[in-house]
Amino acid sequence: MQQNGGSFETIFTMEATPVKYGPGSSEETGWEVKRFGLKRVMLVSDPNVVASGITPRIRELIEAEGVEVEMWDKSRVEPTSDSFQAAADFAKDGNFDGFVAVGGGSSMDTAKIASLIATHGGEIMDYVNPPIGGGKKPPGPTKPLICVPTTAGTGSEATTAAILDIPDMKVKTGISHTYLRPNRGIVDPLLTMTAPSEVMSSAGLDVVCHAAESYLTKPYNERPKIDDPDERPPYQGANPVADMWSAKALEYGGKYLRRAVADGKDVEARGFMMLGATLAGVGFGSAGVHIPHACAYPIAGLKHEWQPPGYPENHPFVPHGWSVIVTSPAAFRFTYDAMPERHHEVANLLAGEKIENPDEDTLPRVLIDLMRDIGAPGGVRELGYSEDDIPALVEGAMKQERLLVGVPKEVDEEDLANIIRDSMENW
Ligand SMILES: [Fe+2]
Repeated sequence: MQQNGGSFETIFTMEATPVKYGPGSSEETGWEVKRFGLKRVMLVSDPNVVASGITPRIRELIEAEGVEVEMWDKSRVEPTSDSFQAAADFAKDGNFDGFVAVGGGSSMDTAKIASLIATHGGEIMDYVNPPIGGGKKPPGPTKPLICVPTTAGTGSEATTAAILDIPDMKVKTGISHTYLRPNRGIVDPLLTMTAPSEVMSSAGLDVVCHAAESYLTKPYNERPKIDDPDERPPYQGANPVADMWSAKALEYGGKYLRRAVADGKDVEARGFMMLGATLAGVGFGSAGVHIPHACAYPIAGLKHEWQPPGYPENHPFVPHGWSVIVTSPAAFRFTYDAMPERHHEVANLLAGEKIENPDEDTLPRVLIDLMRDIGAPGGVRELGYSEDDIPALVEGAMKQERLLVGVPKEVDEEDLANIIRDSMENW
C-alpha cells in the first residue's frame, strides 16, 4: 500500500447529512422547512404512510409555518424509472423551491430524483449509473431536500444515492452523486412504531449489511489514484471516518435488532435501530457496499413472484434488506482472506463480545444466527430461485460495476455464481 502519490488514491472526503434525531423530532419539521427559507414545497410520500396519518401531520406542521405544500403520494415500494419520471414531471410543473420526503427509502429516493430533474432538467436515464444509464453528473447542487424517514433501514436520508428498478432491463440500479445528498434528515423513532416485525426484520438487516459491507470494502488507499476530483466516486472505499459510523451501526444491530423485531413498542430498541440506520447510511454512503448489494439487485429485479410475509398483499416482491442479507454469509466467506482481521472485528461488533479463535466461518455464523432469530428467509431458493437462475442472477450482479469495484479482492462471474449457489440455503 502506498501512502504518497504513486498509483493509489491518497485522498478521501468526510461528508455527512446534518441530522436531527430523537423521539418527537419530526414535530419540528415545519420549523426546519422554514429555516431553509422555503415558500413552496413538494411533499413526497406513499399511500401507506399517508394512511397512517404521519404525512398529513407533517403537512400540517409545514403549512402552519406559512409554507405552501403540494403532496405527491404516489411513491411506490420499489420505484421504477416510470414512477421516478412521473414524480419528476410533477416536480418540474410545480415550481417548487424545495422538497420534503416522508416515508421509506422509496419516498426519499423519489424526492432526490424529483429535485434533481426539477433543478437541472434532462432524462432520468441520462443520470443513471453506467453501463445501464448515461452516467451524467448533475451540473450543480439540487434544491433543498429534507428527509423524514419512517423505517429504520435504507439510511437514504444520509446517502447520495437513489435506487430504482428498470423493468424493461430486469435490473435494479441507481443514480449516485454527492449533489443528491439530502440537506437535512429528521430521524424520529416514534415514526417506526407501527412497522410490522417483518418490515423491521428486513430493514434492520439492510442496516447490518450496509455497515458490514462498508467496513469490509476495499480501502480508499488501495484504489486507483484519481487526478480529477470530479471523477472521484461517492463510494470512496473504507476509510477511518466511515469505519466509525459503520462500527457503531454494527454494535446497535447486534444489540437491538432482535428486540426491535420482537416488540414494536420497544421504543429504546427501535430508536437505536433508527439511529443505526442513519449511522450506517453515513458509513456506507462514504465507503460503499459491494457483493451482497450487487447480488440483491437482480434477486429483487429478476422475478416478482414472492409474496413477502408481513407486507401488503398482492404485491409480490423481495424486500430490499432480505434480498441483501441472503448472500452476505457466503460473500463474507469469500472476502475473508482479503482482510481477516476486519472480518473478525465485524463479527465481534455484532456479537457484542470478542469471539475466540475466529476463522472464515465466524462472521457468516453470527449473521446466520441473527437472520434465523428474526425470521429472515433462509436463502435465495426461498425467494423463488433455483440453480437454473444462477447465470441470470450473475449477469445482473455483474452489471453493478460501481459496487463491484469495492470488493476487497478480485471477483469474477464464477466467484459470484459460487456465492449465489452457496446462498441457496443458509441453514
Ligand atoms: Fe441497502
